[in-house]
Amino acid sequence: MNPILELESARLLLRQWHDDDLTEFAALCADPQVMRYFPAPLTRLECAALMGRIRGHFAEYGFGLWALERNDTGAFIGFTGLLNVGFDAAFTPAVEIGWRLARRHWGQGFASEAAWTSLRCAFGQLGLEEVVSFTTWSNLPSQKVMQAIGMQRDFAGDFDHPRLPAHDPLRPHVLYRINRAQWLETLHG
Ligand SMILES: CC(C)(COP(=O)(O)OP(=O)(O)OC[C@H]1O[C@@H](n2cnc3c(N)ncnc32)[C@H](O)[C@@H]1OP(=O)(O)O)[C@@H](O)C(=O)NCCC(=O)NCCS
Repeated sequence: MNPILELESARLLLRQWHDDDLTEFAALCADPQVMRYFPAPLTRLECAALMGRIRGHFAEYGFGLWALERNDTGAFIGFTGLLNVGFDAAFTPAVEIGWRLARRHWGQGFASEAAWTSLRCAFGQLGLEEVVSFTTWSNLPSQKVMQAIGMQRDFAGDFDHPRLPAHDPLRPHVLYRINRAQWLETLHG
């Protein structure tokens, strides 16, 4: 299948990453508020490596975490998209949906809009049967996005993130899911 390089929503372009996104990406990943629910903010070098891995995922699977560009200003504001879960858990193999936006672009519905567009791609062009999402139990802003796009919490799916150390308060995670039938239901009311 052809890679899905771009998607459009009312206010956003979901696109491939440009080399010059790195400056803004590094700034947002250095913001302790943005990275509050992750082990630590990222250095510029770590962000460059992450951009490389994101591009590699697109090259391998034809989808990934799209860079978000606002139509009104042309600004790069973060990422949203789909990726294969990179660790083993009770719910894997699975495709997850995820997001990270610069703080000044929060509270305007951009994450939910991009997430909705990514989900349409997952069940449309990609023909997936299910998409999952997960986050540390205390990350309520992220869980609100999950709920906004019609995902439902799988209470039996709570898990400890295997990449985080035992006793790390971020380790306990909640799992949300949406399948094709549920997505169609949210579409048609
Ligand atoms: C998670 C994250 C992307 C959520 O961003 P967000 O801007 O709160 O999410 P949304 O795009 O859904 O915006 C919803 C908010 O915008 C408001 N809003 C304003 N205009 C809106 C519009 N046109 N449409 C929808 N919502 C709108 C909503 O009322 C809501 O505000 P509220 O949170 O005060 O109720 C953001 O907090 C983030 O980047 N966090 C750091 C990274 C992270 O934790 N990622 C997830 C890891 S699992």
